[in-house]
Amino acid sequence: MASGVGSASFAARVIDWQRTHGRHALPWQGTRDPYRVWLSEIMLQQTQVATVLGYYERFLQRFPDVRSLAAAPLDEVFALWSGLGYYSRARNLHRCAQAVVAEHGGRFPASSEALAQLPGIGRSTAAAIAAFCFGERVAILDGNVKRVLTRALGFDGDLAVAAQQRDLWAEATRLLPERGIESYTQGLMDLGATLCLARSPQCPQCPVRRHCVAAREGTPERYPVKSRTLRRGRREHLWLWLRWRERLWLAQRPATGVWAGLWSLPEFDSAQAFTAASADWPGAGEALPSFTHVLTHLDWTLHPLRWTLPERSSSARVKAITDALPAGRWFGLDEALAAGLPAPLRKLLMALGASSE
Ligand code: ADE
Repeated sequence: MASGVGSASFAARVIDWQRTHGRHALPWQGTRDPYRVWLSEIMLQQTQVATVLGYYERFLQRFPDVRSLAAAPLDEVFALWSGLGYYSRARNLHRCAQAVVAEHGGRFPASSEALAQLPGIGRSTAAAIAAFCFGERVAILDGNVKRVLTRALGFDGDLAVAAQQRDLWAEATRLLPERGIESYTQGLMDLGATLCLARSPQCPQCPVRRHCVAAREGTPERYPVKSRTLRRGRREHLWLWLRWRERLWLAQRPATGVWAGLWSLPEFDSAQAFTAASADWPGAGEALPSFTHVLTHLDWTLHPLRWTLPERSSSARVKAITDALPAGRWFGLDEALAAGLPAPLRKLLMALGASSE
């Protein structure tokens, strides 16, 4: 790895640029309240600023501090998170709030090391919170910052290899400024989000282009190097929207995996599997338009089928049907919309929930 980046001048340029060209008006800036900064950093993992803005304000209105969040039912947290995706973040958020209350008297600990012990807070997020709230001189290294630093340094070690990740952390630490950690940290994030883009880097506008090995080489897109690329999978299910007497059956998804803990429709592996299961059901089914939900590792095609049981069906008959479905319960439409639902289900219910066949 060729490293032409001296720490003082690199950091100074990032800081100057952040102060004049970086982002300053985001709602989680201008505060040193760890609760607010923590919430923003968790929401911003995997999600863009523009999407986070609305969720952030709504979330803070409902949960203005860590104690109100810790005391809330998890379902309500999921409901406010619905649409942000990666629901393990919401589960960990809730757990983390409870740990802060139970183990730290309701105050976030004031060092990156202690923050990183809390649920859902990894090394880079802990460092960002500690830098922004407590001025701790500590390196962040999220996806955007990896891109900025590997390019600036010409770091071509394979980041799929743990030892190379460790080396990059060491480089990130070496580059830290003596003063101005808040602007430096925000500056690296802002560079990664606005100029040092994955596919179309804006090198002519970059404050560190003269220090940047990748810009000099002319092939910034080559960085970061990561050998193990994700193989995207495909999955397909029939999605059963079962209705009876103005209500629908929702099953709570398992605590791990896609949409962990959310209320969703029962899935069947195939139309045949559903036909076999529903052979003696009263009522009728209606196929709704299929759609593909894109997850990080997976394209998931869902074929919704709405089955309406006759109003007059007895409770015993209906119970025999739902007993064979994943565990759940009946919801009125409004009640369902107020619960933690996967975004595509919310969309489906909003579009078609009020209609009858
Ligand atoms: N992405 C992660 N953290 C961020 C922050 N504090 N500001 C803007 N984008 C971010």
